[in-house]
Amino acid sequence: MKWVDDPKWNHWQSHGWSNYEQMGDRALQAVRDIIEPGQKVYELGVGGGAAVVPLLLAGYEVWGTDILQTNIDETERQCAQHAVRFRHGIPETADLAICINVTQHMTRLEVFALFKHLHLAPRAIVTFRVGGGIDSEPPRLVDMLDWRPEQFEAAAYEHGWLVERVDDVGAERWARLRRRAI
Ligand SMILES: C[S@@+](CC[C@H](N)C(=O)[O-])C[C@H]1O[C@@H](n2cnc3c(N)ncnc32)[C@H](O)[C@@H]1O
Repeated sequence: MKWVDDPKWNHWQSHGWSNYEQMGDRALQAVRDIIEPGQKVYELGVGGGAAVVPLLLAGYEVWGTDILQTNIDETERQCAQHAVRFRHGIPETADLAICINVTQHMTRLEVFALFKHLHLAPRAIVTFRVGGGIDSEPPRLVDMLDWRPEQFEAAAYEHGWLVERVDDVGAERWARLRRRAI
């Protein structure tokens, strides 16, 4: 089962956020801007493998986790179909940590924990939502959060990250982070 088929997440599908290829391409491009094939990526919240598969096909070593076992199963199935191997789990270290399209499901405490968790890598890409209703987003999702997108940069800094660069993609912000010396 893909995460988009799970009742918990299927509002994405009904709002048109089901373009796997587009998400995978965007993730691959963002990763390529930072590290080389052969290097190690850890993805938190792999979903159905939209980023995992293209990253593996491009030659990256990819590790990942997800809160839903059904999504891990789907990612493994997608990998098997493409004859590539994903490592389910958290590596001791990675060259880059990514968390794409996940923070909109998280509470403030989870986002804070996320910053600590991603410390296994010196650099990270984290996306977050800045508004609702533009292309795909049900407004209630952002409204329900107990943290505001404007707090993201300060929270990242507080937890040991510098926000190096931010790219706006519709209602979504792709933040590139570098671990700062503390
Ligand atoms: C919208 S999907 C994005 C999946 C994938 N990153 C992508 O871009 O296609 C959100 C994913 O985050 C996972 N997720 C949500 N909260 C999580 C948490 N606290 N820890 C790990 N995974 C989480 C969900 O199970 C789901 O697979």
